[in-house]
Amino acid sequence: MRLNGKTALITGGARGIGRAFAERYVAEGARVAIADIDLPRAQETASQIGDQAVAVHMDVTDQASIDSAVAASVEQLGQIDILINNAAIFTAAPITEITRAEYARTFDINVAGALFTLQAVARHMIDHRIKGRIINMASQAGRRGEPLVAVYCATKAAIISLTQSAGLNLIEHGINVNAISPGVVDGEHWDGVDAFFAKYENKAPGQKKREVGASVPYGRMGTADDLTGMAVFLASDDAEYIVAQCYNVDGGQWMS
Ligand SMILES: NC(=O)c1ccc[n+]([C@@H]2O[C@H](COP(=O)([O-])OP(=O)(O)OC[C@H]3O[C@@H](n4cnc5c(N)ncnc54)[C@H](O)[C@@H]3O)[C@@H](O)[C@H]2O)c1
Repeated sequence: MRLNGKTALITGGARGIGRAFAERYVAEGARVAIADIDLPRAQETASQIGDQAVAVHMDVTDQASIDSAVAASVEQLGQIDILINNAAIFTAAPITEITRAEYARTFDINVAGALFTLQAVARHMIDHRIKGRIINMASQAGRRGEPLVAVYCATKAAIISLTQSAGLNLIEHGINVNAISPGVVDGEHWDGVDAFFAKYENKAPGQKKREVGASVPYGRMGTADDLTGMAVFLASDDAEYIVAQCYNVDGGQWMS
């Protein structure tokens, strides 16, 4: 129960990694608001987790939606002690096929969405003198480019950079901003990634997943549950002195 009495807003929490964070946070004694563009799925997830979880609608590309989701979370939880900036989309294409529309959509969700959610929650924390924690979801894709994944990689590099700047700026208010950099995590997100590679690398469905899993030094793809320990640690009192960092939780993938 390392998060006993704490409250957390988790964007993109309806499924995948965000859902695993919500489940683990509740198991550690927290109450959580699951904020997602897919409200029915967020409601289903919250009801499966139990009465310590609530669902709120949030589209991170829409400032009014961010503001109302933050307000709804505060109304239902009392305050927000922890934000996990987790909502994001994946996209892939060769450099010669990237469109401005897809570039703009991906940056709007993955970067502007994270920044302006962080801003809204930081203002709430500062106004209420909450010594809060903010955890941004980066990726090993943000630490190096990939031939077919230029835009997604660039958004995750931006998340690492924003974590550094926001971390340095907000620590004067007692708000710690850090990031988690996963490697390859099995789930619906990676089903989509696999489909992109099936198209662009002419692979059979599931083949990219098997290849990627075999290439991880640990010996398999990650699971959402593999990431939850770091998300608890960064939100706990043990992480008080950690500022503006990005931690790899990837079975050794980035090092390889
Ligand atoms: N799965 C991986 O291999 C992997 C690896 C590295 C980093 N990550 C990062 O971890 C995070 C979670 O990944 P995941 O695998 O759980 O992804 P996912 O696609 O399973 O879940 C993303 C969630 O975000 C929500 N979402 C999408 N657009 C939104 C919007 N505009 N507003 C609000 N919510 C929106 C979706 O509805 C979904 O519930 C993401 O930031 C992702 O980039 C994932």
